[in-house]
Amino acid sequence: MTRIALIGAGGVAQRHARVLSDLPDVSIAAVADVSLPAATALADTVGARAFDDVEAALDDGPVDAAYVCVPPFAHGAPEEAVLARRLPLFVEKPVGLDLDTLDRLESLVEEAGVVTGTGYHWRCLDHLAVARELFATSRPLLAHGYWLDKRPPVTWWQRRDRSGGQVVEQLAHVLDLARSLFGEAVEVHAFGARLADEDRRPGTLPEGVTGTDVDDATGGVVRFASGTVLTIGASCALSRKFGAGLDVVAAGAHVSIGEEGLVLDRGTGEPERHERGADPRVAVDENFVAAVRGEIPAAIAPWADAASSHRLAMALADSAAADKPVVPRRSGTSA
Ligand SMILES: NC(=O)c1ccc[n+]([C@@H]2O[C@H](COP(=O)([O-])OP(=O)(O)OC[C@H]3O[C@@H](n4cnc5c(N)ncnc54)[C@H](O)[C@@H]3O)[C@@H](O)[C@H]2O)c1
Repeated sequence: MTRIALIGAGGVAQRHARVLSDLPDVSIAAVADVSLPAATALADTVGARAFDDVEAALDDGPVDAAYVCVPPFAHGAPEEAVLARRLPLFVEKPVGLDLDTLDRLESLVEEAGVVTGTGYHWRCLDHLAVARELFATSRPLLAHGYWLDKRPPVTWWQRRDRSGGQVVEQLAHVLDLARSLFGEAVEVHAFGARLADEDRRPGTLPEGVTGTDVDDATGGVVRFASGTVLTIGASCALSRKFGAGLDVVAAGAHVSIGEEGLVLDRGTGEPERHERGADPRVAVDENFVAAVRGEIPAAIAPWADAASSHRLAMALADSAAADKPVVPRRSGTSA
């Protein structure tokens, strides 16, 4: 039996609890949240113990791995508690917010040497194999990554110093996918656009929230060391999720990669359509549990790799805030 502790009991933790509980020989042992009622509500659905203290949750009984499912601003202490106990660690994306905390955690992850995984589940999309095969012989030149959505109805999301904004919170999946296909980014430049609070449609912000400093739209460009150029477009001004994806131009071919499938158009004959197979939200948990059990050498989106995706997202957010080009911070540097 693989016993999991969940840290954070909100929306995404509830999803992991459902998925993990359905996997063979996996149980949720403990749930910790700063809100004990939230921890209890989730713990009761899976027969786990509830805590309002992370250390107590990890020490109360045997635990084989921990999931950190807290909002961006709350990363740091939960991971430190898990790593101090040398437990395998799964962290929801984005894996942090401020880059100094990220650097500190990076050293701790390396020192602990434990299995790590993260919530960048787009990497588990099985149709990505088609894109990877194409790019092995046809270099990706130009791409457009987009996330067109509404504002999630949580209070912390509306403040940049709590969530990081839409590029860090939502476009993050697409940026991580772009990194996994094109390599490291060397320079970014982004621009934000924001509605005046009084011009926003009623009901756009959660109840009790009267203003936001999170941009309603962001456009930008990313240059990769490989030579690929990526433009990005994100907006949270819609009333429902319109779509998210990555469109790529390689010599003689156009590929549209989305959460539900991929369309490859070589310009001759009908475009090839590949529908998504396994649910990546399930696959990412199966993959992490397999790594914890030693059935595979590593999880598909290890923490250190996810940290580099977060540095790219933060570079775009910082560029839009400062209105100037930014070089993404690299792992192990604090410049
Ligand atoms: N991969 C995905 O598809 C996906 C989907 C949804 C959310 N997420 C990510 O998961 C994270 C959480 O999102 P959510 O929707 O669950 O948010 P949420 O607001 O619903 O839940 C967050 C929970 O964390 C708790 N919390 C805050 N600080 C804590 C701390 N220090 N220790 C313990 N608990 C703490 C809060 O009380 C709350 O219950 C976000 O970063 C979000 O981007 C990922």
